[in-house]
Parts: sequence; C-alpha cells; structure tokens
Amino acid sequence: MRAVVLGSAAGGGFPQWNSNAPACRRARRGDTVAVARTQASLAISADARSWFLLNASPDLREQIAHSEFLWPSEGLRSSPIAGVVLTGADVDAVAGLLSMRERQPFALYATAEVQAALAGNPIFEVLTADCVERRVLPLDRPVPLAGSGGIDSGLDVLAFAVPGKVPLWCEGGRDPGVQETGHSVGLALAERGRPAHVFFVPGCAAMTPALAQRLRSAAAVFFDGTLWRDDEMIRLGVGDKTGRRMGHMSMSGDDGAIAALRDLAISRKIFVHINNTNPVLLEGSPERVAAEAAGWTVAHDGLELTL
Ligand code: MLT
Ligand code: MN
Repeated sequence: MRAVVLGSAAGGGFPQWNSNAPACRRARRGDTVAVARTQASLAISADARSWFLLNASPDLREQIAHSEFLWPSEGLRSSPIAGVVLTGADVDAVAGLLSMRERQPFALYATAEVQAALAGNPIFEVLTADCVERRVLPLDRPVPLAGSGGIDSGLDVLAFAVPGKVPLWCEGGRDPGVQETGHSVGLALAERGRPAHVFFVPGCAAMTPALAQRLRSAAAVFFDGTLWRDDEMIRLGVGDKTGRRMGHMSMSGDDGAIAALRDLAISRKIFVHINNTNPVLLEGSPERVAAEAAGWTVAHDGLELTL
C-alpha cells in the first residue's frame, strides 16, 4: 500500500490567505524554514495505479497538478482517482469535491451523517447521481473500497467515530459540544489479506481508551496536528476558540497527542492537518524539535509512505 500526503495543513492552509502573522509571511515569501502547505488530504493505493483520496481538500486542483500519479493517462477523459473517502463534512474535507464535477465517474464514501450533510446542500448536486456513486460507510465494520461500477481496489476501509463535532457550517451559531458520532470519524485502511493498518484521524477532540486500543501497533498513524497548545489561537490574538472547542486535541501537554500515543508501539506517527498558528511548522523551532524527539514526523505535502 502507498500513502501520499497531498496536503498537510489544517483549514486555511499555510500560509492562510488573510494571515499576516510572521510564520505566514515567511511561508508566502518561500522561506525554507516555513514551508508552505496545502489543506489536508491523503491519497492511498494498493497498486499505485488506482487511487482513493482521503478527504477532498479545497486545494485538490493544485494537489493533482503537483502529483503526476493523479494525472489522466488513458483516452481523452480519465482519472486514476477511483474514489473519495470522507472523515467529516467540514469545508476543508469536502470543498475539493466541487473541483471533481466534470462528469468523471467515481465512488464517494462517507458515513450516513456526512452523506446527509452533503445531500442537504444542493451545491453538491454538481456530482450527479449517474456519475458519482454515493456510498454509506458503516461504523466499526470493514468494507472493501471499490471504484465506480464496483471495480475493486484491493483495499479495505473501516470507519470509526472519534470525539469531534458537527461541521462548522452546520453549527448554527451554537456550540454543538464534543460528540462521538458519524459526523467525525477516523479511518483504518488495509490492503486486503495484509496485517498493516494505516490510520487517518485528521480531527480528534480527545483520546479515549478505545481509540488508544485501536491505534495500538499500527503501521502508521496520520493524526490531528492542528494546534501545539489548546489556547494557541487565543494567546496569539487570532481567535477566541480553544482547540477542543474546534474538535481538536493539541500536540503538547499531559492530555495532548504526543503523550496519548507515546506507549502505543505505532511504527510511524505523523502529524497532519497542521494549523498555520502551530509553531511545529517552523523547521528547527523548539516545538518541532520536541515533536521529532518524541518520534513524530511533521508532515509536508508530498510525504510518501510505502507499507
Ligand atoms: C476544523 O478542522 O476545525 C475545520 O476544518 C474548521 C473549518 O471548517 O474551517
Ligand atoms: Mn479541518
């Protein structure tokens, strides 16, 4: 199985269009200490010919342009992208679907909650039913990933609820609170008949014993790296929400991801969905050094794993 990070930044990307903070200014000017990143998405494949996207980032068009393995190579119209699997309906997970509206068949996997959010928003009708097969992902049960018309990918996916929340655009001005439902899921991917599991958990508000148990001994875990500390955006004066309020646990601290995954015997631990305020984005920063010393990789766009 191959997994390629198409985008490693959280919603807004790095640099974010309206951020004049020092790190974003450096990224905008091409400073090698502050490497620019697009919004989070992975591409996975069993055969390196047909690919599934994990989330469809608003930057998908640019990501495809930078990834030759996703370029069309057959006939006048085609795509190696057989399908998309969603972890939620946040803008940074679904906006790229609107860039896939050129009557190209593919399969769209998401939980019942996420499918309902898409179905309730008529802009997604650009993905017409005769072209895009919308399939409901059950929770806690592995299903074979198949492209349009049922073409098998050789991959199985299992979706599981993680502490999270409804999408920001569905909050209706209220704090929906942390919940563990199909609105916010993690994905476990495996090549059929092989033991190695790759996890993709770009949003997780808290570690639970059940989630820790699931992740134990994984071949690779791509995990929520939104913030370094829970009150980061408040302290920087760029927002009034904690990470937890946004559905994200932080990297550092006693209840952070580094501590929570420390003893789980995971072969590769990789932070993705990294917010532009997170100091780990800066090469050589004390936070980057601490994360790497704890065995983590801070993902960059184009990072590739073969398992
Ligand atoms: C998040 O991860 O918290 C969301 O993507 C927020 C958003 O919709 O911008
Ligand atoms: Mn997000």
